[in-house]
Order: sequence, then structure tokens, then C-alpha cells
Amino acid sequence: MKNKLIITLYILMLLPLLNAVAQAEGINNIDPVIEQKIDSIISLMTVKEKVGQMTQYNGSFDVTGAPSDIDSKTKLEKLKNGEVGSMLNVLTAKATREAQEVVMQNSRLKIPLIFGYDVIHGYKTMFPVPLGESASWDLEALKLSAQIAAEETAASGVHWTFAPMIDVSRDARWGRIMEGAGEDPYLNSVIGVARIKGFQGEDLKAINTIAACAKHFAGYGFAEAGRDYNTVNVGESELQNAILLPFKAASEAGVATFMNSFNEIDGVPATASTHLQRDILKRDWDYKGFMVSDWGSIAELIPHGFAKDKMQAGKLAVVAGSDMDMEGRVYEMALEPLVADNQIDEKLLNDAVRRILRVKFALGLFENPYKYSDEKREKEVLLSKENLEASRDIARKSIVLLKNEKGMLPLKKSLKSIAVIGPLADDKDAPLGNWRAQAIKNSAVSVLEGIKNAVGKNTQINYAQGASLGMGERSFLMPLTINETDTSGFTEALEAAKKSEVVVLVVGEDAFQSGEGRSQTTIKLRGVQQELIDAVAEVNSNIVLVLMNGRPLDISKPNEQVSAILETWFLGSEAGNAIADVLFGAYNPSGKLPVSFPRNVGQEPLYYNQKNTGRPSSDMVTYSGYQDSSREALFPFGFGLSYSTFEYGNVSLDAKDFSGEGMLNVSVAITNTANVAGKETVQLYIRDLVASRTRPVKELRDFKQILLEAGETKTVTFTINSKTLEFYSANAKWEVEPGDFEIMIGTNSVDLQTVKITYE
Ligand code: BGC
Repeated sequence: MKNKLIITLYILMLLPLLNAVAQAEGINNIDPVIEQKIDSIISLMTVKEKVGQMTQYNGSFDVTGAPSDIDSKTKLEKLKNGEVGSMLNVLTAKATREAQEVVMQNSRLKIPLIFGYDVIHGYKTMFPVPLGESASWDLEALKLSAQIAAEETAASGVHWTFAPMIDVSRDARWGRIMEGAGEDPYLNSVIGVARIKGFQGEDLKAINTIAACAKHFAGYGFAEAGRDYNTVNVGESELQNAILLPFKAASEAGVATFMNSFNEIDGVPATASTHLQRDILKRDWDYKGFMVSDWGSIAELIPHGFAKDKMQAGKLAVVAGSDMDMEGRVYEMALEPLVADNQIDEKLLNDAVRRILRVKFALGLFENPYKYSDEKREKEVLLSKENLEASRDIARKSIVLLKNEKGMLPLKKSLKSIAVIGPLADDKDAPLGNWRAQAIKNSAVSVLEGIKNAVGKNTQINYAQGASLGMGERSFLMPLTINETDTSGFTEALEAAKKSEVVVLVVGEDAFQSGEGRSQTTIKLRGVQQELIDAVAEVNSNIVLVLMNGRPLDISKPNEQVSAILETWFLGSEAGNAIADVLFGAYNPSGKLPVSFPRNVGQEPLYYNQKNTGRPSSDMVTYSGYQDSSREALFPFGFGLSYSTFEYGNVSLDAKDFSGEGMLNVSVAITNTANVAGKETVQLYIRDLVASRTRPVKELRDFKQILLEAGETKTVTFTINSKTLEFYSANAKWEVEPGDFEIMIGTNSVDLQTVKITYE
């Protein structure tokens, strides 16, 4: 009896601890049995084999045929010797199986390879580019799109995507702004987590889930002047509160891997930053997955001027906590001699290998290294009807209605004639976006096709391209040529515009104007597109401008020339159908901008969550503004219209203050005053009025989406607790500092009602 009591007491004492362990998610949920297995594998490994696990190769070789050059032969030999732990860009069930066989049949320890690939917005079925998809603010839809991408990827034998990119990005010049969720840390956090959950599912071992990768750690989106790979200089407060917030959320959500970044930050390249990788990620956040370098970023420590040679680069990176070398070819030559020379402790290798094996175990690769490489499944899953339907659904949810005057939209299907004009109007390739993985060239539904599918026979469609935009082949690595001169198609376009009731004018960017290495100093419509708009506006005043682009554009001039504007990003496989759904009212637009649209490039980086400065306003020149431009966005963060109109009632609080772990509720009633059902995204922002580190004038902290029937009213209630108000303070910790806060609620980051509360 006594023994029983002692055991019960013991269990009760342990309970909180057990709970704490059980609460860790994903890769952070440590299984002691697996850890023991990892221990025994590590105890069998030579230093060379450990370095092998830390080495990732690109897959540009054919293991089924005779290797064509010495480099491929070397790769093959290395695979056989267990000197490679991972490969990227090896695709298809067949090729992954063959590469895996090389390792499983020849290497001493038979540790399976993990195959990685950039599945950024779909594998074969394309979804909207991440910035576009983020405009849906629909976490379930975002999760589903990642889930489908994972299913298609896994069916092709690939285990791991290098996504989501959760770099807070505030500079429209930066080409990679397209790849993330925009300028807000909170939105990047919740969208990042939704994507991670979509990719990884409940169980990484399932054959339709893959490991995700939170990238780029850290600061990549803060490149000076929006120039890719450029220097980043931020202090600890901005680093923690803005840049790292989404990464902290990703770590807590149990993302399987992290990727470091190309940039330096405060004088230290991220790849060699102990502060970021060891201190913050692995110590403070207790992260258990592994860190892969970005492509060649360990070798790039040399041109950074941080390492004199590969030996030093390898040492710096491994000490800092970079666990796997992606195509840098540094670890494979440097780590063994560094250990032999006692320049680094072998324990560093053990730690890296343990993390990598943990992910391989989590994926179930030790049970069956070929489980994902199934050619039959591959055929069934890719580009299925259901996947395309899901793509169309999230595509239409991602469209943002920026302007709608004269009741231009939705268009009536009874229109007698519609002109469809523009370089992108019948482009079946651009909507596939830049990181298009295995998308089939020219496979997207164009806007012209979508409109034709939507209208009846009685509507005359007058199509004319007007002018081209990008010229020549689209290539991931090579620069794009823009048509700057050829306006020979204008005449036909003007004829089409003249004889039509309405013009749908499709302009914007080529898909290869945004993406890696695609920074620009201009964010206006490039080529002859503005001239085309000018000419068409002369002959027809009923213009709906349909934009396709991967970054915020300066559309100040077109905004004055047209009656309606739809921001459609690059929407993926079903782009044209999704756009037609919105144009003709089959879907009532609900997207909201995840990034501010500036008035001109000179305002960049422009973001709503800026600081107040010591001189916010004045009648004189001595304030923080411009003499030649407003400092406000043309279309602010969170902005997006609907065919419904939403009226907000007065915001009410159930208490004016709270303390400690308490909370209060803030509510607002919203009425759809239009005669069409619609979806509204109700946004909650806070402002910490006085703090030990200055805080932004507004910070998004919550949002809710509601569906309202015509005439319907619903009350939305947000709960505010210490989590809502906390920040990384001057005490170097996440906490709420007592004091006054503004709570703002509204339909976008500008049109807000404000109430004050106090945290005591
Ligand atoms: C990019 C990464 C990407 C990697 C592998 C790098 O150039 O910065 O985001 O995952 O290549 O393709």
C-alpha cells in the first residue's frame, strides 16, 4: 500500500514534466528509443562517415547510365562509400530509388539518403506564389496547398522541401519578396506554421508528408537596398521582434529543418553565426532538428572576407552550428583534417549527425528507405483533378480587389463584347510563377481562356496582346530580356478596345522578374506596358486592370487611369479560371494585401509597422517625411475590397485593464450591408505606447475571417492576454511591460478604431 502511494506521488510529481515533454511538437518531440538507436549508429561511424552525413550533393548525374564525366564518377564513388548524406534535385520515384540503391547496396552502414527539393508553391500542380497565397489570409487553405504539394512531392520520392520561406520582407525591390508572406512578422509566423503543418502533417512517417525547412535563418529579407544577397545591419531588438518571430514559431511548431542564409548580419555571415544558430536556435529555443546551409554558403564565407580558405570556412560553420553543407564542398575536405588536428571537437560532428539522423528516423527511412519512391502512386497523385480544383480555390481566395469604381466589377456575363488585352492576357506560362518546381511549361489556364470558359456564346471576345513583355526563353538562372521598344501590336489592341464594351487589360511582371537574384531598382510596369495603358485609356474608359506580379508595384499612374484593379500575383495552374471567377462574381473577392503597395520606389522599404520616430509630423519640413511624396502607402497592408460592403460597429471592451496571466475581450459587430454574401478579414493591431525598446506604431497580433450573408451581422471577439502584448524587451526576454496599450480593430492597417487598455 505504502509503495503504491509512493509510486502515485512520484507519478504526480513527474506529470508536469511528462506533459512538458509531450507538448513538444514535431521534431522537438524526442523519442528516447530512437535516440538510443542514433547513439549506437554514431558509435559505429568513422569520422569520414560522419562528415558524409553532413554533406549534401546536387543530383545532376545519372546513376542509371555511365557517368559522363569525372565529377559524376566521383559523386557515384562517394555515394557508394557513404560519404554523402543527402541530395537535392534528384527527382521522380525512379531516380530517387536508384540513387538510394547505390547507398543501400554499397555503403558500409547503409544510412539512407534524404532527398531535398525546392517545393515552394507546388510540385506539379502549381499554387499561387507564396506572397500571393498569403493574401488569402486563409490558414486552412494555405495548409491544404502545402499538404497537396507534399503529397505530390512525396509521391516522386522526395522527402524534404526547402520551404516555407519566412523571411519578413519589406522591400519591393527584392525579387524574393515573392517567396514569403510579406512585411509582417505575425502574419509570417501564422502562415509559416500553417505551411509547416501542411507539409509535415501529423506524422512525418506517412507516405504523403514531407519534412519542411524554415528559411533563411536569418535576416535575408532585410538586404540593404533590396539587392539580393546584400549586407544586413539590424540590432538585437529588430532581429528578435521582427526577423526571428516567425522562426521562433516555426521552431515551436516542430519544423524538421532550418536553412541558414547567404547574408551577413552585423558583420557576421549568418552561416558562421554562433549567436543565431547555437545560442538562439539550439540553446534558447531548444531546437532539435538540423540546420542545412544555403547553396554553397559555407564556401561563400571566403568572398565575404570572413574566412581565408575552405579549412577556416568549415571550422567556422561547424562551430557555429551549420549541420549540413549544401553543395559547398567544404565539409567533405575540411572536417576530417580539422578533427585529426584537434582543431575542432568531434562532438560537434556527433551533434550534427544526431540531428540529421533524427530527421531520417522521423521520416521512417530506416524502416524502408524506398517507401516514398513508388512509381504507381506517382502517376495517380500528380496533377489530379482534385489537386487542380484545390489550386483554383486558393487562387481565387488570393486575389485582392484594389479598386472598384463605377460598379465596374463584377462584370455581367450578358456583356456583348469584352476586349482582353495585354502581354500577359493569354500567357499560359507566367502564372506558373518563378519557383515552379516540376510544373509543365505553358500549362496554366490563361486569363483569356478563363474568360472564354466563363462567358456564353453571345459575348464577343476581342483579344489582342498589344505588346510582349519578357522575351526569349524563361530560364531560372539567366537574366530576362524585356521588350522596351516594340509597340507594333498597339494598333490591333486599340481596335479591340474600341469595339468592346469593357477592356480587361492584363499587365504586370514576367514570372522571371521576381525570385532569387531578381532584384530591380524600378517597380513600375516595365517595357512598353504603361504606353499600352495610356493608349487603351484614350479609346475606352471601362478598363479593368488585372495585375500579375511577384512584388508590390508602383501603380500610381494606372490607378488614375482605370476604374477597377485586381491584384492576381502569379496564381498557378488554374490562374485564368480563378481570375474569371472573380471578374464575373462567381467568387466574391476576399484577399488582403500582405505587403504595402508604395506610391513610388523611393519610399522603399515601406511597411506599415514602422516606428513613430521623434518627429512624426509637423507643418514645417522638420519631420520624418518626404518633400515630393506622401510617406503613406498607395494601398496599405491588410487592404482589399469586396463586392460586399462591411460596416463596423463600435469596438467594445469587457474590461479596461488586466494583469499577469489575466485577459480581456474586445468585440465588434460587423454588418454586410450589400446584397451579396462576402468574406471579411477582421484585423487586430496593438501599439505599446511606452516601452524599454521603441515599438512600432501598429503591430498585427490577430485576425479572424468571417462569412456574412447579405444583410447579416456578426460579432467578432478577440481575447487579449499577455501573449498578445509581449515583445522582446531590453531585458533580453519576451515579456509584457506594464503600461498603456492601444488596441486597434478594422478592415485594414489604416481604417481602424482605437481603444486604450492598461496592463498592470
Ligand atoms: C536558395 C535556397 C534554395 C537553395 C536550393 C539557394 O540558392 O537561396 O532558398 O533552397 O538554393 O535550391
